[in-house]
Amino acid sequence: MPKFIAVSSKGLGPSLAEELKGLSLKVLEQGESNVTFDSNWAGCYKANLRSRVATGILLPVLDFPAYQPEDIYNNAIKKHDFTKYFRSIDDTFTIQATTSDSKLRDQRLVAMTLKDAIVDQCYKKWDARPSIDNAKPKIIFSIRIFKNNTSIAVVTNGASLSQRGYRTERTEAPLREHLAAGLIQLTDWDGEAPIVDLMCGSGTFLIEAALMKRGVSPGVDRGAFAFQHYPSFDEEAFQSSVDEALEAEKEVDIEEPMFFGFDISSKALDIAKRNAQRAEVDDMISFARVPVSAHKQCPTEKKGIVLVNPPYGKRLEDLHTIQDIYRDLAFILKRQFKGWTAWILSGDKSSTAALGLKNSKSYTVYNGGIECRWLRYEIR
Ligand SMILES: C[S@@+](CC[C@H](N)C(=O)[O-])C[C@H]1O[C@@H](n2cnc3c(N)ncnc32)[C@H](O)[C@@H]1O
Repeated sequence: MPKFIAVSSKGLGPSLAEELKGLSLKVLEQGESNVTFDSNWAGCYKANLRSRVATGILLPVLDFPAYQPEDIYNNAIKKHDFTKYFRSIDDTFTIQATTSDSKLRDQRLVAMTLKDAIVDQCYKKWDARPSIDNAKPKIIFSIRIFKNNTSIAVVTNGASLSQRGYRTERTEAPLREHLAAGLIQLTDWDGEAPIVDLMCGSGTFLIEAALMKRGVSPGVDRGAFAFQHYPSFDEEAFQSSVDEALEAEKEVDIEEPMFFGFDISSKALDIAKRNAQRAEVDDMISFARVPVSAHKQCPTEKKGIVLVNPPYGKRLEDLHTIQDIYRDLAFILKRQFKGWTAWILSGDKSSTAALGLKNSKSYTVYNGGIECRWLRYEIR
């Protein structure tokens, strides 16, 4: 049985592993940002269709140490047949390369060397060269070098699984969809408690939570996955994975509103509403323009969880203003949300200190390369 690697953001490995186990996939190994699982191709289709936390699913094909370009070329050309992923010489391909803490530092050179090996294999087989297409390739290979260890894999997903398709307009510093989903999973939300986002921006937390509540799989409306182009593609197995995903969807009684989004920016709220419409969960979420300091009452009697991703000093307002926002946040939480649990994604210790609250749990996660803490507070 092949092994696959599900990849995500650093810090989300545990959430991803739990999610894949919940999909009945056999988890073998868990890292900070990836999870290896043992599965047939049907399991790979399932992970692509249903994982909310993964950004990609890779099929690893080759591992070796590399210190110079020739090491890549020689290992690739001799140890693996890359032509088997092409249906014909007309299939285009691309290579995604990353390298860190290694002698080989030039990602473009790494990608070009692997490309040369693959093109030479194809030339030997078909007497012709395949074309590179970085925008819409049929086949995607990834090469990652870390501490001189090189891993080559076939990318089964295509575009990042984080891109659900509902967020077509930009707000400032939005959370990527898989990160919002992973953070919600870390809260152990029971699916029943109301969720309030006091600085909802484009609405990612609430939209992801509403999609979870409805059991909507992120990949069912996606259109295309890279694995559909590969000669090994099993249409029947894929269709039954799609059917299984559709069967997991649930009717939700929306008499009791349970998702509430607030923000200071009308522009962000307009975008959030349109995002929710595109995700077809707008009937489940209520949005209103309320600055964090101006909440007069809690939007629901039932106690639940508050999720907040306040602005970061590095990217948006200056640090001083940010600390004021954190102080307002602590004040409102204590005043209007007694008995609730609050989760705050903070990218900076001095802002967190301005809250003046003691957290009961802390996870380290990375948001676009920024080291952050996902902090839990019991509001008394
Ligand atoms: C980092 S963004 C949140 C991004 C959001 N999680 C998303 O996925 O789009 C921070 C948000 O806080 C909002 N904000 C800033 N100051 C605020 C305040 N005083 N009251 C309410 N919202 C505020 C900004 O308008 C922005 O939308």
